[in-house]
Amino acid sequence: MQNKIDEIKKNAIKAIEEACGVDNLNEVKVSYLGKKGELSKLLKGMKNVAPEDRPKIGQMVNEARAMIDEQMSKKRAEIQKKIREEKMSREVIDVTLPGRKPLVGHRHPNQIALEDLERVFIGMGYEVVEGPEVEYDKYNFELLNIPANHPAKDEQDTFYITKDILLRTQTSPVQARIMETGKMPIRVLSPGRVFRSDEVDATHSPSFHQVEGLVVDKGITFADLKGTLQQWATEFFGPATKVKFRPHHFPFTEPSAEVDITCFKCGGKGCRMCKGSGWIEILGCGMVHPKVLSDCGIDPDVYSGFAFGIGLERVTLLKYEIDDMRLLYENDVRFLKQF
Ligand code: DAH
Repeated sequence: MQNKIDEIKKNAIKAIEEACGVDNLNEVKVSYLGKKGELSKLLKGMKNVAPEDRPKIGQMVNEARAMIDEQMSKKRAEIQKKIREEKMSREVIDVTLPGRKPLVGHRHPNQIALEDLERVFIGMGYEVVEGPEVEYDKYNFELLNIPANHPAKDEQDTFYITKDILLRTQTSPVQARIMETGKMPIRVLSPGRVFRSDEVDATHSPSFHQVEGLVVDKGITFADLKGTLQQWATEFFGPATKVKFRPHHFPFTEPSAEVDITCFKCGGKGCRMCKGSGWIEILGCGMVHPKVLSDCGIDPDVYSGFAFGIGLERVTLLKYEIDDMRLLYENDVRFLKQF
């Protein structure tokens, strides 16, 4: 019996030593210490052993088990150490190498222009507010004095979601939303995305941005509007910039005007930028129509106001002399990094 046990021990130790991985070692464990392993088989054979010898043999088997188990643990630790070392040597880090810079984007020229623009108006006491991009017909058209049969409401220009809900075609609906709250005086700037069913080309996109301005108080006149926009133009485009108001028509303002600025490239002499005229069209504006005021719950006999709408892409393209609007939407970092 003693010989048998010694032999099992010897074989087990050899097998443990030769084991070449954790899985292999587990197999060895099962074949020697498992329920059907060598030592268990030996114990099962005990019925042939004289009863008085049984405790002694039992003890010998247990000692063998403990010894094999210990060898196993040692070997397991060895294998694990080796795996760890191999992994470490594969993952050497050379701390003297220059770091890899994470790719960061760049502020979009639209955003830079918007913040410049906002800074000027915030300096004049304006508050920046935002309105929803998915808007009711009521705010986008009706309250702005744009009647049901107006061409702007045509499906060719407007993305409708239902008969009454649409993607706003302008930021002007924010005017109605602010006036409706009834808090006076009003001095807000409202930038945001607008949508029109346009084909993409160098100057058009189905989605672009506008910045709406609105002032309502007692005694606001067209002179306030002119002074405000002149101030913005000089701060935004440069001190030599002059503004010109051309009569125009918008349903929600009366009188209405379009504003041109002197070309900042040629100073008004005429160049490619201003197509030879010396002037560049920049925005629409006017005095808030009395009907719009009263429909929004403001008494036009007490209050008056002015409004303006700036095309953000338009001023961004001009300010940075970019000749194709599509560049603004491609978001190629090589392009964006120039600003
Ligand atoms: N919403 C107009 C447009 O999209 C622009 C505009 C013109 C806004 C005159 C105004 C304004 O607030 O007074 O063409």
